[in-house]
Amino acid sequence: MKTILVTGGTGSVGRPTVQALRAAGHTDLRILSRRPGVGHVRGDLTAGEGIAEALEGVSTVMHLATSRRRADVRQTENLLKHAEHVEHLIVISIVGIDRIPWPYYRDKLAVEQLVAESSIPFTLLRATQFHTLIDEVMTAQRFLPALLAPSIALQPVAVEDVAERLTELAAGPPSGRVKDLGGPEQLAVPAMARAWKQATHSRRPVVPIRLPGKTMRAFTEGFALSDPIQPTTRTFADYLAQHYGAQA
Ligand SMILES: NC(=O)c1ccc[n+]([C@@H]2O[C@H](COP(=O)([O-])OP(=O)(O)OC[C@H]3O[C@@H](n4cnc5c(N)ncnc54)[C@H](OP(=O)(O)O)[C@@H]3O)[C@@H](O)[C@H]2O)c1
Repeated sequence: MKTILVTGGTGSVGRPTVQALRAAGHTDLRILSRRPGVGHVRGDLTAGEGIAEALEGVSTVMHLATSRRRADVRQTENLLKHAEHVEHLIVISIVGIDRIPWPYYRDKLAVEQLVAESSIPFTLLRATQFHTLIDEVMTAQRFLPALLAPSIALQPVAVEDVAERLTELAAGPPSGRVKDLGGPEQLAVPAMARAWKQATHSRRPVVPIRLPGKTMRAFTEGFALSDPIQPTTRTFADYLAQHYGAQA
């Protein structure tokens, strides 16, 4: 039986991934977290604390942690430093990071490079934006008089679909970069905002906005989109139905 360490196992995609791994029979699972919890091993990837201990006897690492800010490179460096014995490192990244000049995306690209240049056999999956992220962005605007929605299209994916794909990849051999994963639909953000507004019974108007700059231009050109033909089926409407009881 493989011993698996999941970094970011308490996060949006980490939680369903831990569930999917358990459902697939991986009982020897550790979750690296800064917080106490069932199945957790305490550690801090940014500070470089507790990582060596967490990796003792581990053969597979699912690296799903993120600082959401500018510490992802340091987090990965600290992980790799102690992971030389690991037989399979599975890493999640984001579609389009090599073409969208957003600082966080540049860091994700640097993380990919660190992993590829390490001696650890790896599998790298790039995914599009999660449904949970769209929900978070809309929810974060609750104190504004309107819902601001950039006039771009995205191809949001369900965290459960990503979790299932990661679990499949953990069962296979290290495969380098594999085919990107996206959701089943490409949707304009203002359309998603209107669906979210309806699902949450918000009365605020949706205001499509055009933002200046190279990053927004890259999004407008569709660099965050993936192949329209995907193995995924869960839609954003399904997400809203599940979380807000909205009609799909
Ligand atoms: N969100 C998206 O739309 C999206 C799309 C494609 C790819 N991705 C990628 O998917 C990955 C997961 O994203 P997510 O949205 O699921 O993340 P998230 O919900 O923000 O969760 C972040 C996770 O990272 C862990 N973490 C943060 N700082 C840490 C530290 N210093 N030491 C140890 N653990 C730390 C947190 O664990 P504790 O708080 O328990 O310590 C938490 O489990 C990231 O690599 C992200 O770039 C995200």
